[in-house]
Amino acid sequence: MLLIGAFTVNLVLALSACAMPTLVQILGTMKQFQKDWTFPRVTEIGASINYTLFDPDVIGRVDITNTFYGNELNTEYLFGAFSSFGTSKTTSLIGVPLNSTISELVIQGDTVSLSLIAMFNWTVKIVPVQVNFFFKFDDEGKVTQYDAQLVHSSWLFQTVLPGFIPILAKELGLPVTTNPFILVAKRAAMDICAEHDQFCTGENLQYKSTEECMNFIETAIPFGDYWQAGQNSGICRYLHKAMVSRRPSVHCPHIGPSGGDMCIDRDYEETVTKNPFKKPFIGMPEGIAIPDSLQPTHPVSFACQGDCHLKMKV
Ligand SMILES: *[C@@H]1O[C@H](CO)[C@@H](O)[C@H](O)[C@H]1NC(C)=O
Ligand SMILES: *[C@@H]1O[C@H](CO)[C@@H](O)[C@H](O)[C@H]1NC(C)=O
Ligand SMILES: *[C@@H]1O[C@H](CO)[C@@H](O)[C@H](O)[C@H]1NC(C)=O
Repeated sequence: MLLIGAFTVNLVLALSACAMPTLVQILGTMKQFQKDWTFPRVTEIGASINYTLFDPDVIGRVDITNTFYGNELNTEYLFGAFSSFGTSKTTSLIGVPLNSTISELVIQGDTVSLSLIAMFNWTVKIVPVQVNFFFKFDDEGKVTQYDAQLVHSSWLFQTVLPGFIPILAKELGLPVTTNPFILVAKRAAMDICAEHDQFCTGENLQYKSTEECMNFIETAIPFGDYWQAGQNSGICRYLHKAMVSRRPSVHCPHIGPSGGDMCIDRDYEETVTKNPFKKPFIGMPEGIAIPDSLQPTHPVSFACQGDCHLKMKV
């Protein structure tokens, strides 16, 4: 114990001159995040609306969905949504994180690269999912921005789909030989439209009737795949229906025909090159500049001025 204590103190001293927040703060935050991003703990965090480890203006991007601005939205999507999927009365088509192990971790100054192998309960199967994060911290040790990617996300649906077939067929009263995409689309449509009917009323109404809603989800748009959870798809609206009951005025448009600003047709090149972040996720040891030839081309990356303590130009 003494040895561990002394080691920790030495690390803090060694890094305090150049790293704000301290390494110990960042490690504590990473450990806490790992603990918090588990079902059913996500329920408490979701209900808090503002996650304590996030800055109020946190920007978070998840490659298979969207970019979220501010603590409330980020808490809803990272935590609240999973709380809803974990307590669904019908078979949930989206899994919930149960626990995770850290498989890769690099900390450089206020920037962290973290890879988690998270065990997800995908209702019909426990599946490991690799999630890679970049995090950036402010001086108080709060996350100001994160960039998350689901590795192999395009492989996930085909991995879990066979398990859903018999369960959905039985639940929906359809033959087990029904096309699997029809089964998932019907399950999604029924759940989305039930949320819509209950919570999207008055000004928030998106569909004139349950039938119109069912038709739209089942026939007007593709169900899609998990990597299309931020596109004009059924799976995107299914993801967003998890948030509708808590804040209908914000989320009803996302499950409607327009998709709000979330479930929409997107341009590949724009998606790849657009950078929503205020600062670059570049953690260079203090004083070392990146040669011009290696600098990324994202225009926003180099907009940081004054408070940007990284020296970007030689
Ligand atoms: C979350 O934080 C924001 C800004 O800090 C605040 O305006 C909002 O009221 C908070 N929401 C809740 C539910 O506490
Ligand atoms: C994670 O959860 C799974 C499923 O409940 C369990 O089998 C596994 O032992 C857990 N792993 C850890 C590291 O807690
Ligand atoms: C996985 O989810 C299903 C459906 O919600 C539940 O019945 C089961 O107990 C869960 N398994 C674990 C290990 O959490």
